[in-house]
Amino acid sequence: MRITTPENDIAEVLFTEKQIAARVEALGMALTAEYGGKKPVMVCVLKGASFFYIDLCRQMNCQIDMDFISVSSYGAEAQSSGVVRLVKDLDTNITGRHVVLVEDIIDSGLTLSYLREFFGARRPASIRTISFLDKTARHASELKTDYCGFEVPDVFVVGYGLDYASYYRNLPYIGVLKPEVYS
Ligand code: IMP
Ligand code: MG
Repeated sequence: MRITTPENDIAEVLFTEKQIAARVEALGMALTAEYGGKKPVMVCVLKGASFFYIDLCRQMNCQIDMDFISVSSYGAEAQSSGVVRLVKDLDTNITGRHVVLVEDIIDSGLTLSYLREFFGARRPASIRTISFLDKTARHASELKTDYCGFEVPDVFVVGYGLDYASYYRNLPYIGVLKPEVYS
């Protein structure tokens, strides 16, 4: 019997659990400084941002609302389908509220621009984005996120919420998937 654990499919670790924790703590402090007293609505973009979102919210020392949305832009491929679909909407009315969209990774920037436009139409007081990872080389600079955890090169990464074909999300670090896994 062939025993496979997620680690077997990782070529390289880009960010360790420790590095991630330190970065998320710093981001939580920055958001606390900016949003203290504003009672922002923190919006988790499921499922990829889930670990980042929970850790980030835990590091914010101010009143926040927590809500979740789900979009789908990828099938079981390592390539964007180019189509964004809202699968689960917010429960919270965001009109007049300060909104922070929490994303896992900006690749083409398509999901980010769709979400900004879609939720911006509900007239929030402000809308900003924070993405755990950003593949800056893959998109135009106007699609930049307001806050970012780490910049990553154009490689397919998994772990800390990010998946390939819905697996690997539970790895506690960010790793590069071996190309033979998806080719
Ligand atoms: P975009 O719309 O092209 O910016 O794609 C964003 C979405 O694609 C993210 O929310 C992820 O779900 C997925 N994605 C892009 N690159 C990666 C990657 O390297 N690993 C895992 N998911 C990725
Ligand atoms: Mg995904």
